[in-house]
Amino acid sequence: MKDILIRQVRLLDPAGNTDQIGSLLIRDGVICDPSLADETAFVIDGTGLTAAPGLVDLHVHLRDPGQTWKEDILSGCRAAAAGGVTSLLAMPNTVPAVDTPETVRYILQKAEEADARVYVVGAITKGLKSEEPTDIEALYRAGISALSDDGCPVKNTAMMVEAMKTAARLQIPVTAHCEDPYLAGGKVNEGPVSEALGVKGMPDAAEEAGTAREIALAAAYGVPVHICHVSTARSAAMIREAKARGVQVTAETAPHYLMLTEEEVLSRDADYRMNPPLRTEEDRQAMIRALCDGTIDAIATDHAPHSPEEKADFEAAPNGSIGMETSFAAAYTVLVEGGFLSEGELIRKMSASPAAIARIPGGSLAIGAPADLFFYRKEAWTVDPEALHGKSKNTPFKHRTLSARVKLTICRGKIVFDGLGIL
Ligand code: DOR
Repeated sequence: MKDILIRQVRLLDPAGNTDQIGSLLIRDGVICDPSLADETAFVIDGTGLTAAPGLVDLHVHLRDPGQTWKEDILSGCRAAAAGGVTSLLAMPNTVPAVDTPETVRYILQKAEEADARVYVVGAITKGLKSEEPTDIEALYRAGISALSDDGCPVKNTAMMVEAMKTAARLQIPVTAHCEDPYLAGGKVNEGPVSEALGVKGMPDAAEEAGTAREIALAAAYGVPVHICHVSTARSAAMIREAKARGVQVTAETAPHYLMLTEEEVLSRDADYRMNPPLRTEEDRQAMIRALCDGTIDAIATDHAPHSPEEKADFEAAPNGSIGMETSFAAAYTVLVEGGFLSEGELIRKMSASPAAIARIPGGSLAIGAPADLFFYRKEAWTVDPEALHGKSKNTPFKHRTLSARVKLTICRGKIVFDGLGIL
């Protein structure tokens, strides 16, 4: 592989406290001292670009095995690359679920060829059914990096406790989709909007009851838990309070909860339906505050591809929206343009911080670090769903103008997304 030398680029690495113009040399998949470059290197003029550590997305549905009309490992990783994401955690609600070592190995093997690093999340219960625990040790030996029954929260609290204890011993995170299963099944946020639409709502209490349980378990047993896609003000308040008393809880929210509210579903467009649902303006502002004060540690997408046919009927459509290609741009637009976070703080929430939660490499531009990085610039662009790189087009940011754009992504030292037209 040829060396890559990027000149005159703004190097923004919050983990290394760096924000300066300089050069970067990439050799054999590693970030190297640029003074080692020779004339054989492939040179990129970085003028006007910012280089940052590759994004780490803690919450992605790749649909492979089993639902590859929606997405597959390779297409999902192409979408990741186009969004600056170089590492992702792939959720286990595939068909079959990721509940055997064979399925773990299948994903890891296919991912070797992919444009992003894929870390596999193993299921806590067989078939995500909350009936029988998986053999976590066997899944771990096969290569899982985290545990979750995402989307189908573990109903049996004792089984959840066992998983949390085993995960703590193995030093992998448990990531929890917090939702009381008996209050689940709504289509949109419960309240005036669900009433206006005449559809069943998802109450805040469903998420908050789940959040309260996972915090209580983490506190009682002295083990960590990671709370997925926080969407209500009171969930954030519970996490804030738990952190203040030393509970080992971390949390993520998603760009759609930062930019959009339940008003979007009044259009009866199922691309705005996801679980948890878009909430109120008050909740949206609470998510921003929680990110700013450190209550929420990371931004993840919950990239959930579904085909246009599946999304055609507003009420019958499955929950979920895609997000990896727009996550940085959307978060930048709300948080940096809105004056809430600096660019460095945003990048930390999308790289070093999630990497630390998942205990995986990433989040650094230091010499010797893996060459996983992306380049962006401030640029207004309008999201065209048809121009996105994944298989599904169900983006809630469609036709929105965002104010930063990923221009180049390098993963394992290789250019995996070229938005500059240099290849
Ligand atoms: O909106 C969602 N989509 N929430 C989930 O919990 C699951 C996900 C999916 O797999 O489509």
